[in-house]
Amino acid sequence: MGFHHGLTARDLSDCPGLSDALQCLDRFADDTAQPLRTTVTRFGYERHLLHADPENRFVILNLIWPPGAATPFHRHLVWCAYTLVSGVLTEMVSKKDLSGYGERSLTVGTVNLDAGGGPYTHRLVNASSDLARSIHIYGVAPDHYETGVNLFIDELMRP
Ligand SMILES: [Fe+2]
Repeated sequence: MGFHHGLTARDLSDCPGLSDALQCLDRFADDTAQPLRTTVTRFGYERHLLHADPENRFVILNLIWPPGAATPFHRHLVWCAYTLVSGVLTEMVSKKDLSGYGERSLTVGTVNLDAGGGPYTHRLVNASSDLARSIHIYGVAPDHYETGVNLFIDELMRP
């Protein structure tokens, strides 16, 4: 399993439950897991809650991206690990001063990490004509996963 962004050991220790969560990841790579809860977001992608950590440290979500589905630019309020399972997703990563962004394709099987609470600002887009699927793990108590993980850019820019 490869990693992108290369968090330092100190960052990793700031992510309670991350190593346990990553050990669960392989269990959810096939698409046979029954979601505990499904939400269709206003941005066109579905979030399926696959696992709620019994110690309240993280949730594991399956995200289903129809063609054209996209998040707005956002930051993570909590630590986040995500990996593309199938299809094609483009990640746009904003410059720190929000004056522009770079773009890359996510690679199937590479785990991307963000310690959260920092300046990392990105959006994910399915610009392809096929369905894409990704798994996202957020270091949030399961009761708060629907509203407690993303800070959208319009909120960042509010005075
Ligand atoms: Fe994100």
